[in-house]
Amino acid sequence: MARILVTGGTAGIGQAVVDQLIAEGHSVIATSRHQQTASAQIEWHQLDLSSRASVHQFCQSTLWDTPIDGVFNNAGFGLIAPIESASEEAIREQFEANYFATMTITQRAMAHFRTYQQGVLMVNTSIGGRMAFPYFGYYNATKHALEASYEALWYECLDSAIQIKIIEPGFTQTQFATHGMQTSGEQSPYHQDGLSWLATSMKEGQTATPPSEVAKVVVSALFDQRRQLRYHAGKHSGSLLLLRKILPDSWFQTLVGKAVLRGKKAS
Ligand SMILES: NC(=O)c1ccc[n+]([C@@H]2O[C@H](COP(=O)([O-])OP(=O)(O)OC[C@H]3O[C@@H](n4cnc5c(N)ncnc54)[C@H](OP(=O)(O)O)[C@@H]3O)[C@@H](O)[C@H]2O)c1
Repeated sequence: MARILVTGGTAGIGQAVVDQLIAEGHSVIATSRHQQTASAQIEWHQLDLSSRASVHQFCQSTLWDTPIDGVFNNAGFGLIAPIESASEEAIREQFEANYFATMTITQRAMAHFRTYQQGVLMVNTSIGGRMAFPYFGYYNATKHALEASYEALWYECLDSAIQIKIIEPGFTQTQFATHGMQTSGEQSPYHQDGLSWLATSMKEGQTATPPSEVAKVVVSALFDQRRQLRYHAGKHSGSLLLLRKILPDSWFQTLVGKAVLRGKKAS
C-alpha cells in the first residue's frame, strides 16, 4: 500500500485518480480549496494555489512528517483570454496558481523525497504544454513553464531514485470547461467570432476523454518504476503530440487554425 498526495482531488482528473487509488487499496492525501468531510480513506487538506499563504501553510503541514510515496501535482485552472487584451492581473493570477504555487509544492516534495531517497513526483500539464491554441495562450504558457521545469528536474534527479513524470492529457470531460476556467479581455472587438465559436465547441464536451481514462495513465505511471518523463493521456493526445513533433510548423499551424478558427486566416 502506497501513500499518495493528489492536489485538486474533488473533481475531474484528480478525483478520478483518488477513486482509482482507493479502489486499489492505497492511502490518499487529497486537497481542495474548501473544507471536505473527513473520511477513513482520504486525508483532506486545504490548499488554494491562488493564495501564497495557503500554499506555504500547506508546505509546512504535518502531512509531510510521514513518508509519502508519490505526489501528483494536478490542481490548476484555465484562463481563456486573447493575448492582446488579457489584464495583467489575470495573467499574473494564472501564473501564480498554475506555475509558482505548483513549483513551491514541487520543491517541498523534493525536500521530502531527498530525505527518504525515493519517491515519484508528477505534474499534470496538458498537450497545451507542448503546443499553443488561440485564446489559451497564457494557460498554455503556464503549462510550457511546468514542462520545462520538470524536464530540467528529471536530469537533476538522475543520480537518485526519485522519478520525475509529466502527464499530458488532451481535452478531458471534467468541470474544467464549465467551472475551471476564468476569462479576461473577452470584450475585445477583434475576437468575438473566435471566442463564441470556442464557447460552443467547449460545451460539446461529449467527445472528450472521460477522466477515468486519464486516471489509468496517472496511476500506472505512479507505479511503473520507469524513468519515463512524459505520458500522453486520452483521445487524440498521442496523435496531436506526434504531429507537433513531425510536421513543419507551418503545416501544424494550418491544421490547428483550421480546427480551432474554422480556417480563418490559417492557410
Ligand atoms: N479537462 C481538460 O481538458 C484538461 C486537459 C489537460 C490538462 N488538464 C489539467 O488537469 C488538471 C485538473 O483539471 P480538471 O480538468 O480535472 O479540472 P476540474 O474538474 O475543474 O478540477 C480541478 C481540481 O483542482 C482544484 N482546483 C482548481 N483551482 C484550484 C486552485 N486555484 N487552488 C487549488 N485547487 C484548485 C479543484 O478543487 P476545489 O474546487 O475543491 O478546490 C478540483 O479538484 C488541471 O491542471 C488542468 O490544467 C485538464
